[in-house]
Amino acid sequence: MKKFVKFMSLLVAGTMLLGAVGCGSSSTDNGGSEETTAEASGAEGSGTASVKTVQEGKLIWATNAEFAPYEYMEGSEVVGIDAEIADAIAAKLGLEAQVENMDFDAIISSVTSGKADIGLAGMTVDPDRLNNVNFSDTYVEAGQAIVVTTDSDIKSAADLSGKIIGVQRGTTGDEYVSKAENGVNPASVERYGSGTDAAQSLITGKIDAIVIDNEPAKKIAEASPDKLVKLDETLTSEEYAIAVDKNNTELLDAINTALQEMKDSGELQAILDKYLNEE
Ligand code: ARG
Repeated sequence: MKKFVKFMSLLVAGTMLLGAVGCGSSSTDNGGSEETTAEASGAEGSGTASVKTVQEGKLIWATNAEFAPYEYMEGSEVVGIDAEIADAIAAKLGLEAQVENMDFDAIISSVTSGKADIGLAGMTVDPDRLNNVNFSDTYVEAGQAIVVTTDSDIKSAADLSGKIIGVQRGTTGDEYVSKAENGVNPASVERYGSGTDAAQSLITGKIDAIVIDNEPAKKIAEASPDKLVKLDETLTSEEYAIAVDKNNTELLDAINTALQEMKDSGELQAILDKYLNEE
């Protein structure tokens, strides 16, 4: 019986292999071949015609790799949820993903100025940003959270009033604590290039709390378990999506098709589970 199962799976694998060869998508095992054509993207299954990108054959994604688990450095490589999503979408479009790592508040302009094709950075769909770029369908839900020192007297958002709060510059966390109508009345807001820099300041007592997206907040607290803790409260309800230049609706459509395929096949969920399912 076991042997039979093995034989059958070999047979199935073999058939799939033949099928793939039959489709002629030989450029998917690339190795730097420049031959990424419309045929190749068709063979990947998303049925999209070739889309225009900044550099032919490439999907350049702008990010800020200071945002584990969505994007962070592992050696010289940008890894994380968004890196895997970028690779998967690029493959479906018959393109090669290429990352551009930059400050978070430079991402949108890199897309609108044609330096990058997309912004993929745990980026929240936000009305101000919609003035400048289009957003794809959303791929995850998130919200702002608070990180404090383990001995802090801050126990909830109400306690943020009168405190020095650290955020990552230009993020929705920045916006949340900076806008009077949200009712947080901080003594001041300190803006950092990254959550990790804010964490350093929190540990050394320069600031009283950090407001940052929930999963990165978890990572920051986990990195210094004896010093920092993430509070349970979630301050906002947000959704992440991919920013695309307003003039490239073909690319937007192709990305939405690819995202939908990844949702339907369970691939997206598998990527999320791989990074978010501890705890
Ligand atoms: N979700 C927040 C925003 O859109 C923070 C994103 C920060 N992302 C990053 N890669 N640093 O503003």
